[in-house]
Amino acid sequence: MLRYFVGIVTLIHIGLSKRHPEPYYGTKIGPLQEFAHGIKGTVYAVDESTIFIKGFSYDGTGPDAFFWIGNSPRPSPEGTIIPYPEDYRGRDPPLKAHNNTDIILRLPNGKRIRDIRWLSVWCRRFTVDFGEVFIPPNLEVPRPRVLPEFKRIAHGLRSDNISILDAKTFYIPNLHYDGGGPDAYFWVGNGSDPASFGIKVPNEMGSLEPLRSYLGEDIEIQLPGSLTVYDIDWLGVWCVQCRQNFGHVMIPKDLDVPPALGQTKISPPWWYNPTTTTPVPAPTNCREFLDKRLQVRWMIKDDQVEITLSANIREGRYMAFGLSGVHGKAHMVGADVTVAYFDKNSRSFHADDYYISNFSQCDGKSGVCPDERIGGRNDVVVLHGEVENGITTIKYSKPLHTNEAINDRAIPEDEPVSVIAAFGPLNSRMEASGHSAKDKTVVDQQINFGDLYDNQCTLRPDQIPAADGIVPWPAAKIIGETVFHVKIGPTGGARGYSKITGLSSWGICYYINDKLIPELTVERGQTYIFVVETGEYNTNPARYHPLYITNSKEGAYGQLTGESRRNQEIYAGVDLDSEGRPRPTAVGRYCEWAHKSIDKSMESETFEDYLRTLRVECDEGEPAYLNWTVPMDAPDLLYYQCYVHLNIGWKIHVVDPGYISEQNGSANISKTSTIKISPLVYIFTTIISTETIIRSIYKSL
Ligand SMILES: *[C@@H]1O[C@H](CO)[C@@H](O)[C@H](O)[C@H]1NC(C)=O
Ligand SMILES: *[C@@H]1O[C@H](CO)[C@@H](O)[C@H](O)[C@H]1NC(C)=O
Ligand SMILES: *[C@@H]1O[C@H](CO)[C@@H](O)[C@H](O)[C@H]1NC(C)=O
Ligand SMILES: *[C@@H]1O[C@H](CO)[C@@H](O)[C@H](O)[C@H]1NC(C)=O
Ligand SMILES: *[C@@H]1O[C@H](CO)[C@@H](O)[C@H](O)[C@H]1NC(C)=O
Repeated sequence: MLRYFVGIVTLIHIGLSKRHPEPYYGTKIGPLQEFAHGIKGTVYAVDESTIFIKGFSYDGTGPDAFFWIGNSPRPSPEGTIIPYPEDYRGRDPPLKAHNNTDIILRLPNGKRIRDIRWLSVWCRRFTVDFGEVFIPPNLEVPRPRVLPEFKRIAHGLRSDNISILDAKTFYIPNLHYDGGGPDAYFWVGNGSDPASFGIKVPNEMGSLEPLRSYLGEDIEIQLPGSLTVYDIDWLGVWCVQCRQNFGHVMIPKDLDVPPALGQTKISPPWWYNPTTTTPVPAPTNCREFLDKRLQVRWMIKDDQVEITLSANIREGRYMAFGLSGVHGKAHMVGADVTVAYFDKNSRSFHADDYYISNFSQCDGKSGVCPDERIGGRNDVVVLHGEVENGITTIKYSKPLHTNEAINDRAIPEDEPVSVIAAFGPLNSRMEASGHSAKDKTVVDQQINFGDLYDNQCTLRPDQIPAADGIVPWPAAKIIGETVFHVKIGPTGGARGYSKITGLSSWGICYYINDKLIPELTVERGQTYIFVVETGEYNTNPARYHPLYITNSKEGAYGQLTGESRRNQEIYAGVDLDSEGRPRPTAVGRYCEWAHKSIDKSMESETFEDYLRTLRVECDEGEPAYLNWTVPMDAPDLLYYQCYVHLNIGWKIHVVDPGYISEQNGSANISKTSTIKISPLVYIFTTIISTETIIRSIYKSL
C-alpha cells in the first residue's frame, strides 16, 4: 500500500517538474560536423521553426557561404538560404567569421524543422559543404502551450485563448480592455489569485506605462528580467491604485515550452503593415513629444530620412519637428525644423523646411523663417497626408545632407542628436508664428535617426490627445429632484471625473439619473430616495459599490479602521450588524454603463455624446432603496460615496427648506410634491432613523 502510494507521488512529481536543467536550448539535434574552415557548434531545435546553434565558429574565409537547409538525402545545391543576420531589406549577405557565437536561425518561408533533413554551412559559388548536421526523423520539438482566455472580471477585459510562446513570452489574441483603470498593468505572481504582491510586465511595446485600451488586438508580451513562466502562477491585469484584479489566467505547472532565446520577437505595433516581400517587419521608430500630443515616426531610406508627424491639431495650426540648435539641450536658435500643416484654403498638406536664426517672426532675413524666404531651398517633400478622427498625419522626406551650409544642418546617421518639437498658430502667410511655452519641447530629447527599433510610443494614433489641451465636460448638477437612480459607469477619462473633482479614480464612478457624478442639492428636512443599483455581493469587490452619505471627500468607510473612522461622519447608508460592526445597507443589483467598444471620451465633445457610446447592463436582482431624510443640523456640504472604494462619488449641497423651490420657481413644485412628506412625519423619521443613531454612536466613540 505504502509503495503504491509512493509510486503515485513520484509520478505526480515527474509530471509537475518538466522544468529543464539550465541552460536549456530546446531539443538537441547534435554537433556540426566539420569539413572545412573551422566549422563548430551544437545545434538545437528551439521550436518548430527555429534553430539555435550554441558556440558557432567559422573562419569567414569562404567567399559565398550561407546557412543552407534542404530535404534531399545529403546537403546539395538544392537548398534554401537561411538569412543570417536577418535583414529587413531582404538581402542575403554571405556569412562572416564567427568565434564561439550563439546563433538563432529562423527558418524562412514558413518552413518547419520537420520539413528539412539537414542544415549545412554551404558555399554556393563552389557548391562545397563546409560542415553539416542531420535532423533525426520524428524529432520532438518544444511547442507553445495554449491556455484558457482571460477571466472576465472588470473593465471589459477579455481575450481569446492565450498562448505561452516560449519561457518568457505570452501571445494574447483578440485582447479587449476599455482602458478605464487609472493604472492597470499586466501583472504576474504566485498564489491562487492575483494580488498586490506581483510584478509588472511591460506591454507589447515594452513600455511600463499604465495600459491603454485595446479593441480586439493580438499582442505579445514578455516577462521582465530573468523571470520565466515557470516562476509564476498567474498572469492578469491588475490595477495598482485600486488593488483590483480586472481578469487573469492561471499558468499550469506542467509546462514544457520552448526556451526563451530571443527567437520570439515582440510583434510590430498594429499600425505597422509588414510588406510581403520582407520576412522581418520593417523598422518601427516612434517617439512621443509634448505630453504625448505629438507622435514622430522615422526611418532612414538611402540618403533621406522619412518622418511622419501625427497630432490632433486644429485648422490654422502647425506641428513642427527638427534638430535642436544646440546638441544636449532644447534650443530654438540655430534649429533646423520642418513645419507641417494642412492648408484649408488649398485643401493640401504642407511640410516646409525652416531655419530659426532668432526667436522672432521671420522678417525676411532672420527669425523663424522658411528656407525659401531667406535664399534657401525647401528640401522637404510631402509624401503623404491625412486627417482621420481629428488626427492630422503628415509624412515627409528630408535629405540627410544638403549643400546648403547655412540653413540646413546635417542629420547624423548613427548617433543620438537633440531634437525639438512645437505646436503653434500659422499666420496669414501660412508661416509659423509664436507658440506658448507648453507647446514646445523644453527638455532635451535625443533620437538616433539610424535606429531600427526605437519604438517608445504608448498611444495608438487615434488616442493622441488634442494638441490644444483637453476641454472637460461641464460638471453636472441635479437640483429639484427627490429620486436619485444610482448606477456605475466609466469616469470619462481626462474629460470627466478627474477634471471635475481634481482627484484620481480607478476608472469607474457613480452615475445618478444618467449623469456623471452630478452635484446634488438637497433641502434639510426633505426626504430623498436613492434607488441604488451598484452591486450586492461583497465577494466580487469590482462589482460592489454600496452608496452611503458622509462628510468625507473620499469615502471608503469600510477600508478605515479604528482611529481614522472617527474622522468620518456617516449620515445614511450604514447600520450595525448583530455583532455591532458597521455594514452598508444600500446593496442592490449591479447596473453598469458599459462601453459599447473602447473609451471614447477623447472624441466626445459633450457628456451626452459620450453617454451614447455606452449602454446599460444590469445583473439579475432588485435595486436597493436608501430613503434619506436630511437632518436639520446637516452641514452645507456632504458627499455620496462608495462604502468599499475611494473616490467613486461626489458632492451633495445641503440647503435650508424652501431654497430649491425659490430657485426653481413654481415649475418644479408639482414634480416634487408627490414625494414630499408632511413636516410632522419627517421630524419623527429624523429622530428615530438608524442613521442618526449610528451617527451618534460614532460621535460618542
Ligand atoms: C576565439 O576566441 C578565443 C578566446 O577569445 C581565442 O583564444 C581564439 O584564438 C579565437 N579563435 C580565433 C580563430 O580567432
Ligand atoms: C481554449 O481554452 C479552453 C479552456 O481551457 C479549451 O477548452 C479550448 O479547447 C481552448 N481552445 C483552443 C482553440 O485551444
Ligand atoms: C513563485 O514561487 C516560486 C517557487 O516558490 C519561486 O521560485 C518564484 O520566484 C516565485 N515567483 C515570484 C514571481 O515571486
Ligand atoms: C535677435 O534679434 C535681436 C533683436 O531683434 C538682436 O538684438 C539679436 O542680436 C538677434 N540675435 C541673433 C542671434 O541674430
Ligand atoms: C423608500 O421609499 C420607497 C418609495 O416611497 C418605498 O417604496 C420603500 O419601501 C422605502 N424604503 C424604505 C427602506 O423605507
